[in-house]
Amino acid sequence: MNFGSTPGWPVVLGDGPVLLRPYRRSDAAAWSEVRRANQAWLAPWESSPPGRWDELNSPVAFRYVYKDQRRQARRGEGMPFAVCLSESGRERLVGHLNLGNIVRRAFCSAYVGYWVDARVAGRGIVPTALALVVDHAFGPGGLHRVEVNIRPENGPSRRVVEKLGFREEAYHPRYMHIDGAWRDHIGYAMTSEDLTAEGGLLARWHRLRTAAS
Ligand SMILES: CC(C)(COP(=O)(O)OP(=O)(O)OC[C@H]1O[C@@H](n2cnc3c(N)ncnc32)[C@H](O)[C@@H]1OP(=O)(O)O)[C@@H](O)C(=O)NCCC(=O)NCCS
Repeated sequence: MNFGSTPGWPVVLGDGPVLLRPYRRSDAAAWSEVRRANQAWLAPWESSPPGRWDELNSPVAFRYVYKDQRRQARRGEGMPFAVCLSESGRERLVGHLNLGNIVRRAFCSAYVGYWVDARVAGRGIVPTALALVVDHAFGPGGLHRVEVNIRPENGPSRRVVEKLGFREEAYHPRYMHIDGAWRDHIGYAMTSEDLTAEGGLLARWHRLRTAAS
């Protein structure tokens, strides 16, 4: 596989049962099953290209998603991760996290988007995945800033970034076309300096979890 010379890509990241890896062509059936089973859970938070959910999320549609993701990674514009749970010797695809819109030079910044299967929500999978990716972005990825934009109505997603200590920086009216309309978003961000005294975001997340248990 030739991914070009994107710093930090390809890579496999893991913490406990949470495993992040590049997508494989053979993910088509699993990706389609998860996406189709989660229409009501995911649709309110995603852009809405024309077409039926079942078709847009079919194993055949995955071929285009896969190609597009590989193209972005090859150009150094994104790091698209399949989020997997590795339990009882079995790995299953349960979500997605993309470090996208990577811009280097004086900016060295990227945006993160994510989702997880409703059947495994509430287990800290996405905060773990996000912490892994932020540490990777600020280390081998050579980036300085990571941003997450979230609809004000999306309480669970706001909890993810607030728990991890992202800074609320902006309110963007009619920012992105999501679920059929231009929707306001809250901009959260973190820069590498925010973590210098912390030993990384994963270490911070582990400390928070230990303190809460
Ligand atoms: C937002 C999302 C990615 C969070 O992932 P996660 O792995 O469940 O994250 P967490 O386990 O930390 O849970 C986050 C919050 O979700 C809420 N939550 C917990 N279990 C839940 C469940 N079964 N159903 C709905 N929300 C739940 C809680 O408020 C939790 O915060 P808390 O731990 O402080 O109580 C997930 O809810 C999701 O995929 N939602 C649909 C898609 C989406 O919103 N994507 C993000 C767009 S910006």
